[in-house]
Amino acid sequence: MMDDIRRIAADAQSRIAGAATLEELAELDRSNLGKGSELGGFKRQMGALDPDERRTVGAALNEARRAVEAAVAARRAELDAAAARERAAAERLDLTEVRAGRDAGHLHLVTQTIEELEDVFVGLGFTVEEGPEVEDDWHNFTALNFGEHHPARDMQDTFFVDLGAEREVVMRTHTSPVQIRVMEDREPPIYSVMPGRVYRNEATDATHLAVFHQIECLVVDRGITFGHLAGTIDAFTKAYFGDAWNTRLRPAYFPFTEPSAEFDVQRPDGSWLELGGSGMVHPNVLANCGIDPEEHSGFAFGFGLDRLAATKHGVTDIREFASTDIRFLEQF
Ligand code: PHE
Repeated sequence: MMDDIRRIAADAQSRIAGAATLEELAELDRSNLGKGSELGGFKRQMGALDPDERRTVGAALNEARRAVEAAVAARRAELDAAAARERAAAERLDLTEVRAGRDAGHLHLVTQTIEELEDVFVGLGFTVEEGPEVEDDWHNFTALNFGEHHPARDMQDTFFVDLGAEREVVMRTHTSPVQIRVMEDREPPIYSVMPGRVYRNEATDATHLAVFHQIECLVVDRGITFGHLAGTIDAFTKAYFGDAWNTRLRPAYFPFTEPSAEFDVQRPDGSWLELGGSGMVHPNVLANCGIDPEEHSGFAFGFGLDRLAATKHGVTDIREFASTDIRFLEQF
């Protein structure tokens, strides 16, 4: 009887180890340990044995049961792990995978525009710089020569972040704070462009977004003049839009440039588009960044990228740039 028990248990264990599926394993579990199983049959015969034999056979049966149960548990763990691996492989989503073809996805038009402009400016010898979108008052306003009561500091334009002292931390309202960071960090000569996302507490419409993009251009060197500013604006306009496009400057005011000008670009059909602001870096701003205005001068300009991209690609409502509508996005 003892030999039979051991043989049955060993046989069961080897079949269990070979179970190919969880269903097959469940069936083997039932047939080897369930009511009608051979091991179950021995239990019923035990009543006919004398007490000593009953103890020995009982112990052997218990041991056999435990061994078979352990084999079932071990095989179940293996099959579960294999199923999990298979599921993971089937659900695998490689976000770095580049697929060729029409439905492969691509960079957003605004990102493409940033990259194109970077290429234009890198071709002119500029470096590309970045700064944080959450800024302090110093970089976004004070170092840029904004007086304490300048209207741009008002709640209407600026999203304030509830951090530190009151109105001390802002979502940057323009890319000009990156000028400050670059000048604080580096000695002239500086020839840099600084693209990025900016925030204004404004109602959105077809030509305004509360979250949009700008690119800033900064040059600080010896002997930089307004002529360099006008020439650089014209050079990038022709490089980006084409030789048939022209530019003009109109007097304007910005606290951080003096003199200041707004600049417009002219389409080949003769119509004008207001693009951005520009000017000679204010001596106070150079001094705020530790640059001697007697020794160095500079110019800066900045403009909205969303509007630029919209103009170039015939997008009539820039709110589309913030949409996830694939019918819009896949056109570019
Ligand atoms: N920062 C200004 C704006 O957002 C644009 C500007 C940049 C003006 C650089 C002058 C020089 O309106």
